Amino acid sequence: MISQQTIQQILSRIDVIEIVGGFVKLKKRGANYLGLCPFHNEKTPSFTVSPTKEIYKCFGCGRSGNSISFLMEHEKYSYVEALRWLANKYNVEIEETETSPELKQIQQVADSLYIINNFAQKYFSDTLFNIDEGQDNGLSYLKERGFREEVIKKFQLGYCLRDRDAFARAALAAQFNPEFLQRSGLVVMREEKLVDNYRGRIIFPVHNHSGKILGFGARIIGKNEKAPKYINTPENEIYIKSKILYGSYFARQAIDKNDECLLVEGYTDVISLHQAGIENVVASGGTSLTQDQLRLVKKYTNNLTIIYDGDSAGIKAALRGLDMALEEGLNVKLVLIPDKEDPDSYVHKVGATKFQDFIKANKKDFILFQLEVSLHDAGNDTNKKAETVNLIAETISKLNKVEDFTKQQDYIRRCAELLKIEETGLNALVNKFIRQKISKQEIKLPFDEAKYYEEQTQQKGFEDDTMVLLQKDELQERALIRCLIEFGLKNWGEPLRVADYILEEYADIIDNPRLLRITEMYKTWYQENLEPTSKNFLYHEDLQLSADVVSLLDFPYELSHNWKDHFEGKILTREELYLEEVKSTINYLKLRKIKRLIEENQKDLESFHTSEEQVVLIQTHQHLKQMETQLTSQMGTVILR
Ligand code: CTP
Ligand code: MN
Repeated sequence: MISQQTIQQILSRIDVIEIVGGFVKLKKRGANYLGLCPFHNEKTPSFTVSPTKEIYKCFGCGRSGNSISFLMEHEKYSYVEALRWLANKYNVEIEETETSPELKQIQQVADSLYIINNFAQKYFSDTLFNIDEGQDNGLSYLKERGFREEVIKKFQLGYCLRDRDAFARAALAAQFNPEFLQRSGLVVMREEKLVDNYRGRIIFPVHNHSGKILGFGARIIGKNEKAPKYINTPENEIYIKSKILYGSYFARQAIDKNDECLLVEGYTDVISLHQAGIENVVASGGTSLTQDQLRLVKKYTNNLTIIYDGDSAGIKAALRGLDMALEEGLNVKLVLIPDKEDPDSYVHKVGATKFQDFIKANKKDFILFQLEVSLHDAGNDTNKKAETVNLIAETISKLNKVEDFTKQQDYIRRCAELLKIEETGLNALVNKFIRQKISKQEIKLPFDEAKYYEEQTQQKGFEDDTMVLLQKDELQERALIRCLIEFGLKNWGEPLRVADYILEEYADIIDNPRLLRITEMYKTWYQENLEPTSKNFLYHEDLQLSADVVSLLDFPYELSHNWKDHFEGKILTREELYLEEVKSTINYLKLRKIKRLIEENQKDLESFHTSEEQVVLIQTHQHLKQMETQLTSQMGTVILR
């Protein structure tokens, strides 16, 4: 974990204009900067960046955020990755804190699993090459399929004996923990004994992108209708299927060099293509692609070419991954292998050169492919054609990153042509989907909330003081937390600071749970001597919290009429008035609390009581009334707004 001190250092250097400006061309307009929005397609700029508020907002699509959320959104970084990127940019040295006990525990299990997998891989490879059964049953099968020894060795393939527990015994003899052995999936418990899980199978180790073994796929030899073709490692601390691309370790450099990643379905496809000299290839394991897998690809290249068999299941799985791939900004191409072959069998059949020629000649644009398929399905059915138009507009709308603008326009033109419809119509439809998508994702916007409260207050009228006060509760609570964030570190009267005073009082007088959360957060930081400011919230990992604070600071602030009168036209800034403001807000909230207690007490009085109880209740009432009077006189005319 990155320490709070480091985060603080990073935050103190963040310059939103510099960061956003690194990705979007910005021009100064008054106090703000303006540019073309990177999140939707536009010709006139409506993307505004405010250096003082340290936020951006697009008035076209409504998307808003701060420097960190910009990096998360635009560069697809995680929160921590964004911090690391900033630390690097501003030369801040990263200080790591102790990890939590839970995390440590997970890391320990993970380390043990890596060691076990490493042991198992060596054991199984040794069996494949040096034990009779391995050679006769395993190696001969692989060679029959055309795999040469060097590629078998490179991918560290192995063989698990048919024996009930040969591996289990070897692992126990090597002192491995039985519990971890089961977590690794290599062995299972049967009648209180550990037995091997992959008996009589070829073993394919699955490496992560730095070459560590995460788990295994175990293929049955030959055909067997009764048993599953592959048994795979169960999900555990290190084998997380959705994050794994088989072959990424062996493909990295070739992907980089070719600036293209080929994606196939299976283990054997990857290995056969490698053997044929095509090394920029990874496999998804036959399921549709996940976001994590696509991000892994994106680390190396923007060009993804999916090579699947012509059968429909494969295409469907591929199509499911498409929209996400587009959102990741990948250029996706598709190649279908003909005649019931898969890449493995096809490359064996036609050889490396013809295979590569075939790929080059048959690369289809994924979006156009999708359109062709659905147009073909639709035939003359106008309803289905309309559906297709919608579908394709939605797909194109996913291409909404900066570098994709021209591409998007290009697709609109080509698809409109294929569909025989007006380009402008398709353009409008695409924009509609972009707006829809953004409004679904968006966190509630700051100003709306404030406006809502103001309208509420105005609509209900000002019948009596209590009513007015109750309606303004929320506004006052917000005002107080705003004071805390803005003025918390200012002097309250030696040796206290404003934060000391507010944190002493807040617990009883703030009701709104979200405001309470902000306050608790502030308190934690304050007690750790972190000198919290709005930045700590603005750039918080929790986007809701960040949005809440933006909303607080954006909150329209007006001096009350009473104040204006009081200072006879001499308008002071909030800065100059912060002491007054904090005091008045706290007093107000206290007064509200007292009024509530009085009400409750009165209700209580109305029900039946013994005379002793009544005396207590009346005394309470008098006491509360006294406090109320005291407070109101303290507040004077200045306060009631
Ligand atoms: N797969 C799996 N479990 C199965 C079948 C398939 O996990 N029961 C995964 C494997 O990762 C496999 C991929 O899906 O590599 C593709 O499946 P398939 O095409 O059936 O297998 P191939 O890899 O082509 O294996 P082979 O060429 O040996 O038939
Ligand atoms: Mn195959």
